[in-house]
Amino acid sequence: MATAGSAIGLGSLWKFPYVTGENGGGLFVLAYLIFTFLIGVPIFMAELLLGRTAARAPVGTFHDLAPPREKNWKILGWSCAFASLLILSYYSVVAGWALNYTLMSLLNFTKGKSSAEISDAFNLLYTAGDINLLWNFLFIGLTTAIVFRGIRKGIEFWSKILMPALLVILLGLFIYSTTLEGFSEAFSFIFRPNPGKLKASGLLQALGLACFTLSVGMGIIITYGSYMHKTDDIPKTAFTIASMDILVSLLASMMIFPIIFTFDLSPTEGPGLLFKTLPVLFAKLPGTLLLSTTFFILVVFAALTSTISVMEVLVATVTETFGWSRRKGALILGGLVFILGIPSALSGSGHLFFNWAEMYGKNFFDTVDYFSFTWLLPLNATFIAIFAGWILEKELRKTAFTEGTKWLFLFKPWLFLVRWIVPVGVILIMLQQSGIIDIDAIL
Ligand code: PFF
Repeated sequence: MATAGSAIGLGSLWKFPYVTGENGGGLFVLAYLIFTFLIGVPIFMAELLLGRTAARAPVGTFHDLAPPREKNWKILGWSCAFASLLILSYYSVVAGWALNYTLMSLLNFTKGKSSAEISDAFNLLYTAGDINLLWNFLFIGLTTAIVFRGIRKGIEFWSKILMPALLVILLGLFIYSTTLEGFSEAFSFIFRPNPGKLKASGLLQALGLACFTLSVGMGIIITYGSYMHKTDDIPKTAFTIASMDILVSLLASMMIFPIIFTFDLSPTEGPGLLFKTLPVLFAKLPGTLLLSTTFFILVVFAALTSTISVMEVLVATVTETFGWSRRKGALILGGLVFILGIPSALSGSGHLFFNWAEMYGKNFFDTVDYFSFTWLLPLNATFIAIFAGWILEKELRKTAFTEGTKWLFLFKPWLFLVRWIVPVGVILIMLQQSGIIDIDAIL
């Protein structure tokens, strides 16, 4: 459940719907599903078994499990920590938006407003640099405080109540969405493969998203694997979590797209999509204040269970490597994440790096987001697959995989996937994205 809490987060609720919207739905969703099962899940299993075998944080895991003269593999552990830090720096800006929407919901901000005015409220927030900083500070403070005190029991307790609550509310909203007039259009947007709309860059994004929503390539799953027992079933855990993750991603989209098509909003709104659409629906329903506040509290919670896990990985890494205390690690890393996040929090306002977007094509927030989730995560994940498939000692690999599972028949297909399909697939997609090869022309 804890691993599920970490995996299910803003990736499914916030990122999946807007990236799907930007990439034209249909084929993109199909690519995401294929990548999840052929690439994401095998790497997820690899991370779990590596963590369980080494019983350490990522840097220690790659160091301990690498053969004697190949200890440089620990750089991969640092690269995972770097990806975590980078992702956390802008992820908490988005979680800050959810905190802000919780307060705005409490103040009934949609009252008496038209649908267009309600979705415009996001632009007000996005362009207010100081307000973004404030919420970002509060959210990182919350994450740091929890990790600082190490109150895992409390988190576990609340996870068991609030995660199912999130699922129930998502299901309820989804059922309501099916009654909206735009539902069938939304359904075919998400599920009907529409050739021509998916570009090569979309493939790379689908791959990044498959890694992001499963939390692979950041070291989180390695760390959680290190807490697993020899009797725990790794393949089963991986399939269960992947299915839950996909379910939440699809539910979130099937809630959001009917609103878009019913109220004439645009599917290509980008990172603000979740915040621009759902309040429009809440305003139409009875009990707006309660519904909207509860929903955004649950989004904050889903984000928090994810950020805590990442912060734990980072703190575990510095305590293990530098011998710092947990408290020192939490405070310093919390500060670092906040400082790194400042340009992202100020992206919409243009208070910092004003010319960034004009010079590099995307604003700072979008640049860090794009770089980390489309390039860094898949690269890390591929090297993890190579490590598990080729570098890890043969006997160790076999026992690590088969201990605790009844699904022994999965070992060979898994090995084939991590050895061949993952590296070759990811490299092809990356070569295509960088324009070195053109798959369309070859086919
Ligand atoms: N799987 C997580 C999600 O979808 O939200 C990925 C994640 C990102 C976890 C950032 C934690 C985090 F701080």
